[in-house]
Amino acid sequence: MCSDLSKVNLPISKANGLPNSHYIDEQVFQKEKECLLYDNWSGVAFEHDVVNPGDALPLNLLGFPLLIVRDYTNQICVYQNVCRHRGMILVEEKKNIRGTIRCPYHSWSYNLDGSLRATPHIGGPGYNHHKDLNKKSLRLKKIRSYVYLGVIFVNISDSAEPFEKTNCSLMSRWSEFNKPLFSCKNYSSFQLELKCNWKLAVENFCESYHLPWVHPELNVVSKLEDHYNIESKDQFSGQGSYHYTQISDNGRVFVDFENLSESWKTGAEYIALYPNVLLGVHRDHIFSVILQPISKDFTLERVNIFYASSRSINKDYSKLREDNFLFWKSVLSEDIFVVEGMQKGRYGKFFDGGRFSPAMDGPTHNFHGWVANQYSA
Ligand code: FES
Ligand SMILES: [Fe+2]
Repeated sequence: MCSDLSKVNLPISKANGLPNSHYIDEQVFQKEKECLLYDNWSGVAFEHDVVNPGDALPLNLLGFPLLIVRDYTNQICVYQNVCRHRGMILVEEKKNIRGTIRCPYHSWSYNLDGSLRATPHIGGPGYNHHKDLNKKSLRLKKIRSYVYLGVIFVNISDSAEPFEKTNCSLMSRWSEFNKPLFSCKNYSSFQLELKCNWKLAVENFCESYHLPWVHPELNVVSKLEDHYNIESKDQFSGQGSYHYTQISDNGRVFVDFENLSESWKTGAEYIALYPNVLLGVHRDHIFSVILQPISKDFTLERVNIFYASSRSINKDYSKLREDNFLFWKSVLSEDIFVVEGMQKGRYGKFFDGGRFSPAMDGPTHNFHGWVANQYSA
């Protein structure tokens, strides 16, 4: 199937979007798995998925088995969830580990720092050592990870630049939000199922062009003309609004981040951090979205809301948190029919990737250019 990317990186007024094959073809999907998701910093879980020391969460990114662990020094570590002996999956279900990660097959056990601790009967019955096997050389394979805005990012292929280098411009743009975040069990997280390729959710999130028709209620408080495009080549793209209004419950509003600049009093920004994380920042809360690709045309969208102050997760704020949760859940749900509709549209074999509005679609064009560059590299 055609994967001609020659028109994707043309100037926006002449460019076409990614060909259909990037949404519906299994071979292209498998290649994108490697070059977009494994070779870059992909979001896989939230920091609070492993709250307590010893918490271990197994998950996989399109088949690659990962184990996320919070160790006893409170650091998050990510390992390949595979025993160094015969390749058994080490942890099948989320649990709290007391002591060591023990393989259920022949009981090799690993410390939470990944080192191999015990190898029962490895030298024959009753002998737990063997001269030819050096335990120090049999650590769990560590996967590079980094936590940013509550999201655990991993670079599976170990080929990306350090996270802070890759994402330096976003981290500096949003340095005022790089502070402790607060989240609670109630009304903080939800998950949506999207019958579409994960990239369509990125593309839809990063543009504001669709607001008047897909989010008419949002458009009343923050109109199309209140928005601006955000583009950073090969890193991220999105949109900002000059008109963020805090929700209120009888005059009560969420507590702000400390020491914010004046522009954030009414400003908000929504950015897709390539490949698969969507972020929104406001004076009093942020949200982070992890797009978890399941197949070429099915994606889980995990959303978590974080507050700027521990006060905002108190009981007194529960009504306000519920309202905020329902607001974002409804806004993000409004987008489902368009991302699923675009997926169906990719089976129209005469569709040429589409043309962009040079004024409105810059963020999407930026993302497509990144995909094309990664794919062709
Ligand atoms: S496969 Fe893990 S101990 Fe044998
Ligand atoms: Fe939307």
